[in-house]
Amino acid sequence: MSNQKKLDDLKQKILDDKITPELAEQATQLVFGDGNPETKIVFIGEAPGKNEDLQGKPFVGASGKFLEEMLEMIDLKRKDIYITNIVKYRPPNNRDPLPAEKEAFLPYLVEQLTIINPTLIVTLGRHSMDVLLPGLKISQVHGRAMRVKDHVYLPLFHPAAALYNGSMRQTLIDDFALIPAILKKL
Ligand code: URA
Repeated sequence: MSNQKKLDDLKQKILDDKITPELAEQATQLVFGDGNPETKIVFIGEAPGKNEDLQGKPFVGASGKFLEEMLEMIDLKRKDIYITNIVKYRPPNNRDPLPAEKEAFLPYLVEQLTIINPTLIVTLGRHSMDVLLPGLKISQVHGRAMRVKDHVYLPLFHPAAALYNGSMRQTLIDDFALIPAILKKL
């Protein structure tokens, strides 16, 4: 079975299992993931925002534009990578996802990663780092690739946090620039 078909089945399973019904009720749709299911590199954000909720695709608003700019700097396009979020429905008023919401989606995220089996998993921001690499401080570990169990992870700051913060923005750009060398080494 192709990875795309396996991912389609997993998306349907989230719907059938009625994950976070309160979030589902308020959201326009499930935002499952986007990009190349055969990729070597997966990016994981926090949760869909307003634009993502309307379009059904992750990272299509302002932080998505910034993410695409950084991908271009390292010669990658959206079609070369896969992007998803921990929480797959938009939290009301873009509030932070609740611990219970992150926990509810975690097994599905793990399954999504097992299907794609990327060489490198890039977590964007504190929330996605926390669920996959608990106990770390993003200010201390951003830009450092680490092997944990079956995967290699690279924790980065979230593009939304860095967008309007000059020094964090430059740090994120510098960390992004490490990706080609990390991929080459793996
Ligand atoms: N921020 C996220 O974490 N994910 C999105 O899909 C959009 C913005």
